[in-house]
Amino acid sequence: MRAHEAGALHGNDAAPTWLPYPADVNALIPGLWSSTCRRDAEGALEVGGVSVTRIAEEAGTPTFVVDETDFRERARAFRDAFATAFAPHAGADVYYAGKAFLCGAVARWVQEDGLGLDVCTGGELAIALRAGFPAERIALHGNNKSDSEIRRALEAGVGRIVIDSLPEIEQVAEIAGQLDVTAPVMLRVTTGVEAHTHEFIATAHEDQKFGLSITSGDAFTAVQQVLASDRLALHGLHSHIGSQIFDVGGFEVAARRVLDLVARIRAELGHTIDHLDLGGGFGVMYNTQHTPSTPEQLAGGIAGIIEKECHELGLEVPHVAFEPGRAIAGPSTLTLYGVGTVKDVRLGGPHHRLYVSVDGGMSDNVRTALYDADYSCLLASRVSDEAPEVVRVVGKHCESGDIVVKDEYMPLDVQRGDLVAVPVTGAYCYSLASNYNHVPRPAVIAVKDGQWRTLVRRESEDDLLALDVG
Ligand code: LLP
Repeated sequence: MRAHEAGALHGNDAAPTWLPYPADVNALIPGLWSSTCRRDAEGALEVGGVSVTRIAEEAGTPTFVVDETDFRERARAFRDAFATAFAPHAGADVYYAGKAFLCGAVARWVQEDGLGLDVCTGGELAIALRAGFPAERIALHGNNKSDSEIRRALEAGVGRIVIDSLPEIEQVAEIAGQLDVTAPVMLRVTTGVEAHTHEFIATAHEDQKFGLSITSGDAFTAVQQVLASDRLALHGLHSHIGSQIFDVGGFEVAARRVLDLVARIRAELGHTIDHLDLGGGFGVMYNTQHTPSTPEQLAGGIAGIIEKECHELGLEVPHVAFEPGRAIAGPSTLTLYGVGTVKDVRLGGPHHRLYVSVDGGMSDNVRTALYDADYSCLLASRVSDEAPEVVRVVGKHCESGDIVVKDEYMPLDVQRGDLVAVPVTGAYCYSLASNYNHVPRPAVIAVKDGQWRTLVRRESEDDLLALDVG
């Protein structure tokens, strides 16, 4: 592409149409902030009874701040909503998807609150087992499991291994044979659903790496192979259509296709599939464009869909499971950043954009760069009477795509030394964090009842240097 002198056309300082002009730029937008967030008497944001100014002083920045109460309330709300909606049938389990964010404390919360745990690598499994998570409530996922991951899962006695491909059937059976055990397995099937979400996080269409296609016949073949193995016990079918989904219609199509397969397995193989796992993917509110459903609405809607499909196919409603990650972890957490350089960039004519640089960036939240995600933020250390201005919050990395919040109104006097909070960063931010530019990863702390404690300590320069042994 030909380089040319940049002009005003490359910049646009106007607010995007979806971003409403704030009636009060200091106010917390309902739905965006975890349940214990409020402004304290000095005007600082407070979460879990701890002010962000205290967090910055004592824990430093950038820091992920998990509102323990909020996280656990959400986990229990999903558990209860699905249990209630499927109580007239064979019941429902909720597995927290640890890929959203996992550490020992979170594994223990999830255990105490009666959920299962979905892990997708040996590392996630190791965290769960070290935290004492009961293995029988763990599901192991992954499209490319190593022999040692499978062996470790079987030795620990996980409740299910979700098989993702035809070659994996033989792989799991062989390792189960070596260990002289029977492996409880589910088969992940792809339903051909086009979930309306970002391409990288949609997982049920045909041309992607996950699962066994129903359309091609691989899913049916896999069922036959598992049933023929004396080392594998078929625990049920699994389908996950994608992530950050708001339209329940995607689940409807997926449920119908999976239940059609269940009916075919019964008719042709005489086998009853009595467990169905429909994965996760429930969308959350990152900004005012998003209106997520409550767990009760989701559970009720999906139960209705499954009841109807089962009725039409003459099937009993199976025991069901769901695997929400983002919808539990995401809204529970905010990232607290310190503001550094504030730069007013002239774009030509009357146009300009205020760039607010914070002390983290794409190494702690790559979602803006990777998925074009639109986050929100707030001046958190104080309130201001200044007029709102559309700003761009950027990180400290050596890359112009290092954007944390593309567009947000902030008071015009935002300045070095202020604290900025970005809400809904509990899912796929720390878990996708990197050391790009040799920036150490932030700390993760939990707040509750006026106390804070470290869940994952901040990485130090020594940690980084320790890896460099050459
Ligand atoms: N179950 C399975 C089999 C999954 O693959 C996933 C997510 C989940 C459950 C949880 O989905 P959730 O409820 O969190 O949407 N890094 C991307 C998201 C990748 C999701 C991967 N699988 C992002 O930041 O948007």
